[in-house]
Amino acid sequence: MNNPVLFALENDLPLHEPLQAAIGADAGEIDQRRFPDGESYLRILSPVRGRRCVLLANLCRPDKKFLPLLFLAHSLRMQGAIGVGLVAPYLCYMRQDKAFMPGEAVTSRIFAELLSTCVDWLVTADPHLHRYRSLDEIYTIPSRAISGMPAMQAWLAQQKGPLLLVGPDRESQQWVATLAKATGLPFIVGEKQRHGDREVSIKLPADDRITNATSVIVDDVISSGHTVLQTLAALRDVGAPRTICAAVHGIFAESADEKIRLAGTNLLATSNSIPGNHCAFDLAPLLAPAVQDLLASAGGSPHITRDHQT
Ligand code: R5P
Repeated sequence: MNNPVLFALENDLPLHEPLQAAIGADAGEIDQRRFPDGESYLRILSPVRGRRCVLLANLCRPDKKFLPLLFLAHSLRMQGAIGVGLVAPYLCYMRQDKAFMPGEAVTSRIFAELLSTCVDWLVTADPHLHRYRSLDEIYTIPSRAISGMPAMQAWLAQQKGPLLLVGPDRESQQWVATLAKATGLPFIVGEKQRHGDREVSIKLPADDRITNATSVIVDDVISSGHTVLQTLAALRDVGAPRTICAAVHGIFAESADEKIRLAGTNLLATSNSIPGNHCAFDLAPLLAPAVQDLLASAGGSPHITRDHQT
């Protein structure tokens, strides 16, 4: 009974089985539905008293998912779980990391505070750390952020060359530089200006290699898809013969993946952090050691109140 128990609030998450196998967890079962008024019903079917519990959550489009997650985490604790950790391969609400205009909510900070009261530890992949140096700046629970780049690198090794890595903007330099160092592939980095949620412009440096290679656009997340779409347009303008788009997290808001396909890219690939048609590389082997580390070190639940202990 020392195995952790893994619960997921959604069926068919692509990471569910590989993660369960990789951390040696027992399957946690729940019954959930909506009442006619839209409120959540939740029942935990697996015994959890004295067990360490892990929640796997897909936090893409998170607003409707957060309350059920909170209910599950609290219920597990009330039923005697000795710790409740969260594996959120895609960590939402990381991009609004400052008030760009007076009065704007810094939702990354607020969400981090809420989640820190809900679970005992957090494991994620490539959270969008732009103005924060680490999750510890906003999360008060132990956390681990793994990089999906080794998985992307293994996938990249199967692509036919010659390849040129293309980072759309300064932020993506870290990922293309990491991949370039590991693979010996060349890379270029563009300049991006964001004018609105759906308006970006991309300028790429002049580089002869673009016309002689398959360009591999690399980013952490594809959301509206406009960063990738504008990068594809810039590559096409200078005669790129073949393009591939790769990202750790594929949100694909407003059918962004279809728009990217119609823009003529030859291949679109993401990790399995978010379910979808483009999952091409598995994060489970990278997430599992971080989960095991936190399961071993986090111990009992700091969130247990005396009333809940029996
Ligand atoms: C930005 O800094 C990120 O690395 C991505 O480039 C960006 O979030 C992608 O967003 P979208 O797909 O909406 O352009």
